[in-house]
Amino acid sequence: MTYSTLHAAAYLHHIELESSNPARLAKFYGDAMQMQVEKHGDVFVCHGPQRRLIVSKGQDKKLALGAFACRDAEALEGLRGRAAKEGLNPQDAPSLLMDKAFAVIDPDGNRILFGLAKKDPEGLKGLKGPTQHLTLATHDPEAIEAFYAGKLGFAVSDRVRKPNGEVATIFTRSNHEHHTLACFRSDRVGVDHHSYEAGEWNVIRDWCDHLATLDIQLMWGPGRHGPGNNLFIFIVDPDGNWIEISAELEIIHDRPVKEWPHAERTLNLWGKGILRS
Ligand SMILES: [Fe+2]
Repeated sequence: MTYSTLHAAAYLHHIELESSNPARLAKFYGDAMQMQVEKHGDVFVCHGPQRRLIVSKGQDKKLALGAFACRDAEALEGLRGRAAKEGLNPQDAPSLLMDKAFAVIDPDGNRILFGLAKKDPEGLKGLKGPTQHLTLATHDPEAIEAFYAGKLGFAVSDRVRKPNGEVATIFTRSNHEHHTLACFRSDRVGVDHHSYEAGEWNVIRDWCDHLATLDIQLMWGPGRHGPGNNLFIFIVDPDGNWIEISAELEIIHDRPVKEWPHAERTLNLWGKGILRS
């Protein structure tokens, strides 16, 4: 059997962001994203219901790592075996939030972990919004697709293509959710945004009301994306990272890859789109 992230039902468990001011950034996530913040040595661990984020000292807007949890130890071992066979040189990666994790490095130098979720703390309170997807910015979407889909077995859901045939965006999934890892062609390399899935429209309303109490304005939306058909709002953290809160993300059981034109309407069926390239 060729193991893949799809067989492993992998989901985005957490990300780690670097920051020149980790205490400030962690406090923002604590307040805005309703997460409990704890300092562990040099890093801040932020925990809300089914959402987690680590902030470490470093360069603003830099992804330290993206971490996917697999459904069980057998799937994780299978995926590690495949990564080794594909020449990805998986390395043991001790993690505060996952057990038995291994790391691989993607073509842009992003560090990606796969592991088994450790138990979340008890009694976390807050609005619904599990960590759901990570979207990269890259010069080379084809190389990102070849790595994540070709070597790790993510499935391609949708592609957005420019009139000249160049791919602008690729959406890939590691479970039934339309995308858990996506990428935009960009003039920079790193993170485009990360997302929390509120599930339902009314919960987005509640998030907006909560953000309003903190005087945090929406940067984009509300709108509805074409690919994934999800409702969205975007806010920006103090370092300039984009945060998405989404709902109604498409669940895919079995359908062919769909191609979309590179147009404002693809990014937002309702209004203004933010084209990345
Ligand atoms: Fe997104």
